[in-house]
Amino acid sequence: MTRIQPAATNFPMSEPAITPTFAVISGAQVQHVLRGRENQVVEVIDDAYRLHCFGGSVNPLPCFLRLPDRPSSRISALPASISGQMRVDGLKWISSFPGNVAADIPRASAVLILNNHDTGYPFACMEGSIISATRTAALAALAAEWLGCARLRPTRIGFFGAGLIARYIHTYLIGTGWSFDETGVYDLSADSVAGFRGYLERSGAAGRITGHDSAEQLIRASDLVVFATVATTPHISDLSWFEHNPLVLHMSLRDLAPEVVLASVNIVDDVEHCLTANTSMSLAERVAGNREFLCGTLDDVMDGRVALPMDRPLVFSPFGLGVLDLALGKYVYDEVARNGELRLVDDFFHELRRYG
Ligand SMILES: NC(=O)c1ccc[n+]([C@@H]2O[C@H](COP(=O)([O-])OP(=O)(O)OC[C@H]3O[C@@H](n4cnc5c(N)ncnc54)[C@H](O)[C@@H]3O)[C@@H](O)[C@H]2O)c1
Repeated sequence: MTRIQPAATNFPMSEPAITPTFAVISGAQVQHVLRGRENQVVEVIDDAYRLHCFGGSVNPLPCFLRLPDRPSSRISALPASISGQMRVDGLKWISSFPGNVAADIPRASAVLILNNHDTGYPFACMEGSIISATRTAALAALAAEWLGCARLRPTRIGFFGAGLIARYIHTYLIGTGWSFDETGVYDLSADSVAGFRGYLERSGAAGRITGHDSAEQLIRASDLVVFATVATTPHISDLSWFEHNPLVLHMSLRDLAPEVVLASVNIVDDVEHCLTANTSMSLAERVAGNREFLCGTLDDVMDGRVALPMDRPLVFSPFGLGVLDLALGKYVYDEVARNGELRLVDDFFHELRRYG
């Protein structure tokens, strides 16, 4: 019979070769890193998005936890992995509870988990809603820059839905060099209009601010329209409102009826993602029976693979990719670590010898 003899240098009893650490990064730390860095953040998002389009990521479709007892709410899991210099895996776990706004807290809340590329160990849990809103706004600014070049540069912006995402997008547009002669606002909630107007005034951005009484007025008065509502089914179907062929950032994804989508030049961030989850794009695909109404991706535009016709509205619909949260989360983690401000949780991983 072979007996296992205790070895002189007993490997299982020795210290682990690596001791995984675990940090918690607060929203205050995230915001401290990101504040005022709009141009750098757009670069991070640009790099991560291009890497994704080049095949340098794993970014499956999100998994939605729907809640039958709270049908307007959901919690979504967005796992992703990114290669290249970042080399990190992770998960965004984000709640959308539109009813929160009535209680005066934001609709979305989130955590972002970062996992080590080599061991799989999670090494950070970060406040994720600021990262999520920031990556959304940075991609919107990147898209506006590329798509805005295709037409006369817009000078009249209109926000259709004036919540937190609208605020971040405005901050990112202004922070990356845009200025507007007119900023229009339309929202079903008078409180949202007042809150957004207050933000605009405090931001010191130039130009006139106009609250619009109707959706039609806002769209007709804007050559850059930002949809950031929480509508779950299309509510905009009148093509004549778009006869001036505006650039539309369709961030909330479900506002435009199929007939508007089918009459527009459509650019998306990722085709497979955008054609899921009852987005206006997926409804248009059902109506058309094909995907020919899609002109291409933002990456196609950036690489000059598609031409953008001028004679129709130009609609950008970004589904929002977990890989962008991951890239921005890693950027924040690295900055916090570089500043020596990581708050490690002692003994978080506490079973590090396989045999005790
Ligand atoms: N595409 C992406 O990558 C991405 C990322 C993050 C958020 N989003 C989307 O952005 C949207 C806005 O998020 P938020 O956090 O700013 O929400 P929010 O609740 O803070 O603001 C939404 C606003 O839209 C208004 N609204 C709702 N329905 C409307 C309608 N039919 N017409 C006019 N106004 C209407 C509400 O009154 C509210 O003021 C959500 O749909 C969210 O899913 C998209």
